[in-house]
Amino acid sequence: MFKTENEYLYIIDELAANDFVVVNDFLPNDIFESIKVHFDECVEAEKFEKAGIGAFADNTIKSEIRGDYTFWLDKKKDIKIKGYFEMADELMAIINRYCYLSLKDYEFHLAQYPIGSFYKKHLDQFKSRNNRMITIIIYLNEAWSDGDGGELNMYLVDKELKIPPIANRCVLFKSDTILHEVLPTNIIRKSLTGWFLHKPKVVGAILG
Ligand code: OGA
Ligand code: NI
Repeated sequence: MFKTENEYLYIIDELAANDFVVVNDFLPNDIFESIKVHFDECVEAEKFEKAGIGAFADNTIKSEIRGDYTFWLDKKKDIKIKGYFEMADELMAIINRYCYLSLKDYEFHLAQYPIGSFYKKHLDQFKSRNNRMITIIIYLNEAWSDGDGGELNMYLVDKELKIPPIANRCVLFKSDTILHEVLPTNIIRKSLTGWFLHKPKVVGAILG
């Protein structure tokens, strides 16, 4: 196991009680480092593309809503981060066991927000495709400090909660429930973002 039963149970309990949970030092160090290396290599190889909004034929580029660049990961091709996929499998099994969900699949992308970019308030579900159950974000920003911006702002029932995107912090939340936004960033902001799905994703679909 990548985390102890108790660490997983804390995550499950918080997610069930609040619809979100923030976990610092989420990944084992070797997996975290492998993601950072892979991220930089994918940037170098120009694999990132301007992200769109909406799924399938609705997918459109709207920089006034969303300014990040993404690269969709593939378990079979991105073998450098094999450990991450193994941990995602483990987490998915634990969520299924304790939350009585039947998560079947996941999708992950690397995301890079250039200086000045943001992602306006939204839910992580599409009108045409509502199979995203749980959002998972892992931040990769080693030197983030106050004033660097790019916080994840979550709209909770009674307040807004700003979460600094610091390295190896993980945020999990219910994709259809938590309204959220990425505030304008003053540094290049990096993350690995993904979704646990209740139906297998459609092969070859254009994803947003
Ligand atoms: C998203 C998103 C939040 C973040 O990609 O849908 O809301 O903190 N990301 O990166
Ligand atoms: Ni989102």
